[in-house]
Amino acid sequence: MTTVLILGATSEVALALADQLAAKSFNLILAARHAERLNPVKADLTIRFGVTVTVAEFDAAQVTTHADFYAQLSPKPDAAICVFGFLGDHEKAIQNWEECATILTSNFVGAVSILNIVANDFENRKAGVLVGVSSVAGERGRQSNYFYGSAKAGFTAYLSGLRNRLFKSSVHVVTVKPGFIRTRMIAGIPTPGLLTASADQVARKIIGAMQAKRNVIYIVPAWRWIMLVIRSIPESIFKRLRL
Ligand SMILES: NC(=O)c1ccc[n+]([C@@H]2O[C@H](COP(=O)([O-])OP(=O)(O)OC[C@H]3O[C@@H](n4cnc5c(N)ncnc54)[C@H](OP(=O)(O)O)[C@@H]3O)[C@@H](O)[C@H]2O)c1
Repeated sequence: MTTVLILGATSEVALALADQLAAKSFNLILAARHAERLNPVKADLTIRFGVTVTVAEFDAAQVTTHADFYAQLSPKPDAAICVFGFLGDHEKAIQNWEECATILTSNFVGAVSILNIVANDFENRKAGVLVGVSSVAGERGRQSNYFYGSAKAGFTAYLSGLRNRLFKSSVHVVTVKPGFIRTRMIAGIPTPGLLTASADQVARKIIGAMQAKRNVIYIVPAWRWIMLVIRSIPESIFKRLRL
């Protein structure tokens, strides 16, 4: 595994991943909207670690551009990490289809579109690692964020199916289910310190999971048990809770 494609490379988690992967001598393809913003990152990683860093324009919502985006990558990646996502404004999305559609596209449709293409290439090459950053929000719909949550639920199910399909082709798929991560996505939202991970911690866990071929990972272990409890609340009680 030498070249890693990071989709949504301006994300704080992605930047931590880029730093840690470059430190381990992986070459990188950093793909993002307005990719020129990543030129300073490219220069920094190239100088500090002597790796090859390519910057590429990529918009998850522009699904008709994804085939060309992937076709022009040379060399092709040996691993791809799908990091992009959009929390959006849930209250606004209840009234406004555009906001709702952006949440669904940024967390599900766009991810499926690009990973379909990468998965077919990895399947043909009979090698590769795919990583999808989903969320614990996908484990049960709650009134406060069920657009984002349902998109992440779809993404989690998609990754599970992909892992099942690609196992026989020696392509490994990792599903990442973070709880809170201290990034601009949740800036201003108070979260419990013990349940909130740093971007560096998320990146470390993702790289460890890729190398150890883990299937599904939580970042802060307590989330596995919290979600077990949340999933096991009977619907007749769950629907009455203010969550
Ligand atoms: N922060 C949390 O508490 C938390 C919890 C659970 C899961 N997650 C997931 O973790 C991942 C990383 O998020 P983060 O915390 O690092 O947040 P972040 O810094 O806000 O990163 C989100 C990234 O997604 C990119 N993005 C959004 N729409 C895109 C599109 N259409 N095309 C390309 N890129 C797009 C953004 O790009 P721009 O710079 O162009 O806007 C940004 O780089 C996301 O999938 C998120 O859903 C986060």
